Amino acid sequence: MSNTCSLSIRSLPYLFRLGIASLIITLLGGYVVSGLHLRWHYDNRDETPGLTMNDIIGAYHGVQTPSPLISALENGHPDTLPDTERTTLLDWLRSDRVSQDYDNLDLGEDAPSELIAMSCLDCHTRSSSGANTHPEVPLEYWDDIQKIAISKDIQPAGIDIVATSQHTHAPMMAIVMLVLALLGAMTRFSNRIIGFVVFVTGIGLLVDMAGWWITREVAGFAFAIVVGGGLYAIGTMLIGCIVIIDCVLPAGNDASAS
Ligand code: HEC
Repeated sequence: MSNTCSLSIRSLPYLFRLGIASLIITLLGGYVVSGLHLRWHYDNRDETPGLTMNDIIGAYHGVQTPSPLISALENGHPDTLPDTERTTLLDWLRSDRVSQDYDNLDLGEDAPSELIAMSCLDCHTRSSSGANTHPEVPLEYWDDIQKIAISKDIQPAGIDIVATSQHTHAPMMAIVMLVLALLGAMTRFSNRIIGFVVFVTGIGLLVDMAGWWITREVAGFAFAIVVGGGLYAIGTMLIGCIVIIDCVLPAGNDASAS
């Protein structure tokens, strides 16, 4: 017998075990929902849809990506562009009316869409071809412009918010795992394997929680948050499922082994 814990789950009355199983199902269900919530929550830190690494780095470290359109114009591209038009375009891009003024009829020929059509589209349409053209970055439609017009400046959450969040998350997630670890040790399954999962999960959570702070300084550590959090999630699910299985399986021969 691999189980050395004197109290085993299967020695408990069946209703007791069903009760434990229901609680664990609720617990795991709650984690699945908060996993989804996490997805929605960080989704739109950057303008790219979906949860990307940039969203996570943005949340814990902040991300500054200057608008490629502004950079190009600031760097004197294209060199054929008259200074007045360059200034008009840069003023527009730095204003907070980028989408409203793009093809604002009131601006007449100075509307950015007009300037871009005259000065850029020779080289920046999807069908542009020739030595000095650049069809990879089309500027024909608002959708094209929008993607590269706005500087991404994602600020990390404030220290007080991180601290408040950790104040609830760290103890709660650690206690959940402690309870699961104890229940896991009371199952009929190998303590060596469950112990290994507990070890990996514990390290994962530690790295995840420490990562919230380290990533503020070192952006690359965001990957450790993702890996650590992922290991914690997998470990919790795994041990949770093992406990549920042990609860619902018939007690078997040594039900009263203890
Ligand atoms: C004579 C052709 C030509 C014209 C006119 C032109 N471009 Fe370009 N553009 C290019 C080429 C070629 C590249 C790629 C090589 C480089 O960066 O110089 C480029 C690159 C760019 C990039 C950088 C894309 C990236 O990969 O980051 C932006 C932004 C850009 N152009 C905007 C504009 C805007 C805005 C205008 C009009 C005001 C304009 N271009 C006019 C040829 C042109």
